[in-house]
Amino acid sequence: MKKFHNEPYTEETLIKLRIFRDYLRSWLPVFINNRNIYWHEINIIDFFAGQGCDINNTSGSALIIFEELQPYLELVKEKRIKINIVLNEKEGEIYERLKNNIEKYLYNSSYNVKTENRKFQELFYSYYHKLLNTNAASLIFLDQFGIKEIDQKIFKMLVTLKRTDFLFFISSSITNRFIEEESINKHLRLSKKDVEEKSYKYIHKIVYQSYKSQIENESYFLAPFSIKKGANIYGLIFGSNHPLGMEKFLNIAWKYDKLRGEANFDISNENIISEQLDLFTGKSGKAKKVELFEEYLKKKILDKEVTTNKDIYLFTINKGFIPKHARKLLRDLYNKGIIKNWHFSLNHKSCLKNSILEKIILL
Ligand SMILES: C[S@@+](CC[C@H](N)C(=O)[O-])C[C@H]1O[C@@H](n2cnc3c(N)ncnc32)[C@H](O)[C@@H]1O
Repeated sequence: MKKFHNEPYTEETLIKLRIFRDYLRSWLPVFINNRNIYWHEINIIDFFAGQGCDINNTSGSALIIFEELQPYLELVKEKRIKINIVLNEKEGEIYERLKNNIEKYLYNSSYNVKTENRKFQELFYSYYHKLLNTNAASLIFLDQFGIKEIDQKIFKMLVTLKRTDFLFFISSSITNRFIEEESINKHLRLSKKDVEEKSYKYIHKIVYQSYKSQIENESYFLAPFSIKKGANIYGLIFGSNHPLGMEKFLNIAWKYDKLRGEANFDISNENIISEQLDLFTGKSGKAKKVELFEEYLKKKILDKEVTTNKDIYLFTINKGFIPKHARKLLRDLYNKGIIKNWHFSLNHKSCLKNSILEKIILL
């Protein structure tokens, strides 16, 4: 693994880091820019920080945290928000490099930085009670090598945390190769059959489903993003107990995969060149996944299982789509004279306790 630190980041690592940066960029203003500050403390924890950058000084997760905080430094002081940054790296030599690489940021009094040189699981257990009891908002990044650090117990602990979003990386193809090994199976509830039934390119989605099946809280949000590098498939798994967190992550996923919002490659082998109608074949450039979503949502509306703006919103994000997809279907239904109205507010505010719900009227 030494190689990782002595080489430039690969395109696939850069995608992972872009997603992390984009998420941080849309997460921070929710807690800092808001007119009403509900939580005066923010935790950003990078449990596998590496050395902070690659051999070409391209920023890695640790430096990205400081860079993304930069625009808020004055505001943070003004609003008296306490920002705690924790950066952990197990390997001594890499840890020393990390400390050097972040040194220039340490003199800023807008945040508290703690660097740790510990094994992830040990540190996670010792921090957990703080995260559980704090009245803060937290973002956790878990950029492990392989698959073994986020076991079932740790995953369960992560999804139990309130006001905590996490993003973890996992080398999903390893599960495919070693599915029958005890060391893999203790992390995932997967059988050889589960993996063999589906095509290999879906392996990260299968791994995601296995994590999802471990969550008891039905209103918890979890989303995958598959990343292919050569023959290997890796991926990110995002978790949040807030719909706004899920929506923000999905917006990013759809930014990087305009057709399906889930991978850095053509996961369904559909060879779609653009979303526009093809002039020669007359075929729509819409992915099958989008068509299925529209059909499913339409059926739910006609069967009166989805009856309000809140239902539409939650159905949409739970299926890995964003409000624009639902809006498009609603407009079509309206144009066809199936529903009376289509201008619904599709956002997380519809999930607030006292929100007045907008009803769908079928014609
Ligand atoms: C994929 S790299 C992290 C890269 C980093 N996020 C970046 O953006 O450059 C994983 C890092 O975790 C460290 N590591 C591996 N096992 C660990 C463990 N059990 N606890 C803490 N760190 C660990 C490795 O030394 C390595 O630097």
